[in-house]
Amino acid sequence: ELGPYRHYMQKEIFEQPVALANTLNQALAAGFAPTLFGEDAAAIFTTATAIRIIACGSSYHAGLVARYWIEAYTGMPVSVDIASEYRYSQGLEQRGTLIIAISQSGETADLLAAIRNAKERGEVKILALCNVAHSTLTREADLSLLTQAGLEIGVASTKAFTTQLAALYVLAGSLANARQTLSEAQLLELANWLPRLPAMISAVLSQESEMENWAQALTHFEHALYLGRNTLFPIALEGALKLKEIAYIHAEGYAAGELKHGPLALVDEDMPIIVCAANDSLFEKLMSNLREVEARGGQIYLIAEPGCEAALPYVKSALILPISTGPLAPIVFSIPLQLLAYHTAHRKGTDVDKPRNLAKSVTVE
Ligand code: M6R
Repeated sequence: ELGPYRHYMQKEIFEQPVALANTLNQALAAGFAPTLFGEDAAAIFTTATAIRIIACGSSYHAGLVARYWIEAYTGMPVSVDIASEYRYSQGLEQRGTLIIAISQSGETADLLAAIRNAKERGEVKILALCNVAHSTLTREADLSLLTQAGLEIGVASTKAFTTQLAALYVLAGSLANARQTLSEAQLLELANWLPRLPAMISAVLSQESEMENWAQALTHFEHALYLGRNTLFPIALEGALKLKEIAYIHAEGYAAGELKHGPLALVDEDMPIIVCAANDSLFEKLMSNLREVEARGGQIYLIAEPGCEAALPYVKSALILPISTGPLAPIVFSIPLQLLAYHTAHRKGTDVDKPRNLAKSVTVE
């Protein structure tokens, strides 16, 4: 069943081009049509007053990425909450708030409690993004979209995470379409990235050997710092989570602009720093962060889009992606970080598919 792969996680990483193509299949045919999410979606999307995203773990990180997309494309206020925090917090929900609940399994106890709680706080609608048809979550939601990742066995989420991101990008486009916040030409430009995504992911997967090299170095460290800006900030959090979860190395993700507010004090030659750089308007800001780190002896491992070569003098090692990633950067940059965590864990000999102390689905509080 594993074919040429050693672990389910590795197999699932390589299944991503197909999982993404399957998830996007319907969306590609329908464009950014709200009906993808249910019959009442057009009306709910048009009248929604605010958006609150609720999730746990990797699904929460997907929600953090979605905030950037939805705010940029619709101008709506978006908040993102960890389910275990939301369920015990207080406050009313503004009438017409659209709650987006993200869960691979649809059975995470804290998330189910959170959406039930949200319904008691006001007149809200629940939209579920889930990888399991007929899960408790989809049954309790008003609207839903299923990701088509297929069964994910590895405890560390890979293909379920990137398909959530793809579905959230479609959701952001569909909200913009329903609310007419973007022109036809702008919507078309966003949609045109989607059919290219599976091939983009395959191209990055073919750089696996570079991540095996980095993993060799990473096994010798006890800590690692991941940095990114904009949609790559949540991907830094996700990369750090993967490394903690399966390689048992303490890792933290930070918004690169936060360095001076504390974590810069940690930087020395024993602190590998993994940086995700998009070739966008924030690249210059990121460059100054790299200079700060380099000046303090930090070992920078850079993952960058083509066009970011000006950063090369400051880094110990660089992976230049073979393609430009545009607004899909967070999906594409997830791949090398998954491979890095996987190969580091494999080198350390951990139980990659079943890391200690963790369960695939957290159905108790
Ligand atoms: O099934 P869910 O998406 O609700 O699960 C949420 C988290 O438990 C999950 O993403 C967890 O953080 C993963 N093991 C991370 O790889």
